[in-house]
Amino acid sequence: MVKRSRILGCGSYLPANVVTNRDLEARVDTSDDWIVQRTGIRSRHIAADGELTSDLAIAAATRALEHAGVDAASIDCIVLATTTPDNTFPATATKVQAALGAKGFALDIQAVCAGFVYAMSIADNFIRLGQATRALVIGAETFSRLLDWKDRTTCVLFGDGAGAVVMEGYDAAGTAADRGVLSTHLHSDGAQYGLLYVDGGPSATGTAGHVRMNGQEVFRHAVSKLSSVVEEALAANGLEPAAVDWLVPHQANQRIIDGIARKLKLPTDKVVLTVDRHGNTSAASIPLALCEAVHDGRVKRGDLILMEAIGGGLTWGAAMVRW
Ligand code: UT7
Repeated sequence: MVKRSRILGCGSYLPANVVTNRDLEARVDTSDDWIVQRTGIRSRHIAADGELTSDLAIAAATRALEHAGVDAASIDCIVLATTTPDNTFPATATKVQAALGAKGFALDIQAVCAGFVYAMSIADNFIRLGQATRALVIGAETFSRLLDWKDRTTCVLFGDGAGAVVMEGYDAAGTAADRGVLSTHLHSDGAQYGLLYVDGGPSATGTAGHVRMNGQEVFRHAVSKLSSVVEEALAANGLEPAAVDWLVPHQANQRIIDGIARKLKLPTDKVVLTVDRHGNTSAASIPLALCEAVHDGRVKRGDLILMEAIGGGLTWGAAMVRW
């Protein structure tokens, strides 16, 4: 017998305001054709003025609690992955905790686009060690606030949103047939810090700064590092790629996602795609995609889900989860 964390339910939230590629043509020298061909993105949601990361997180978490059928007061741990906290401190997770009426402890974690996989891994470890019994894991971003709206190489890529899951510990058999988180795999390489970063921060400039990215280099790292971490996740569980029912990838670029699916020989209908309608929502992209596939009935109890993501740092990782 081993302690594992299973997922009881999930929820998501997208701001009402949808910005299409055509809308962006009016702001920067770009085209719908270029954005669709290079990234697969057609539109993204952008938070309204005054709509904060905590608002998105609270909405997604409330829906996740409803779907799980559990009371907020039974949550004893909140791990919120975000790059765009409401304030530099305290952790946005504490605001979410108060709004929901959750107990225990709440913290933010920062791994940019790999944030949700990191957050799930952290919560899973708390649960397996007995330091938490029922956790909310949230990815929430108002990434639009970090964009330089004059820089066409970045501002067309990102969007805002939030997704959340409720995780609970249980005594499992200890095999790959168990429900819940089977394994998580985290990596970072700080030597690549300068490939994708924000040119500000409380210590460096006293400002929030704007996203700067060497897109081609990040692309190159993404394909190789994600390929290797999905192989690592499969090997750790003694599973072949054919066992994967759903690839739920970070949604940065359709070409990167297609490359990983090809490597795994997964047909496209086994890949959950939202990049066309959400763009890159950083830490929110995996739970947003997962929720969509759960709530439209694609993901069924017992299905094997492989999640993978890479972001600034560079940070990257994968999670193997049986629904
Ligand atoms: O979530 C974190 C992880 N992030 C990623 O995974 C992102 C990884 N990188 C990428 O997805 C791609 O590198 C991008 C989508 C960012 C860029 O695609 P690319 O095929 O690598 O394009 P590029 O940077 O090589 O640019 C090609 C051309 C350039 O023009 P020249 O130098 O060939 O004349 C750019 O200036 O496209 C130009 N360009 C644009 N043109 C129209 C760059 N951005 C735009 C734009 N609209 N928005």
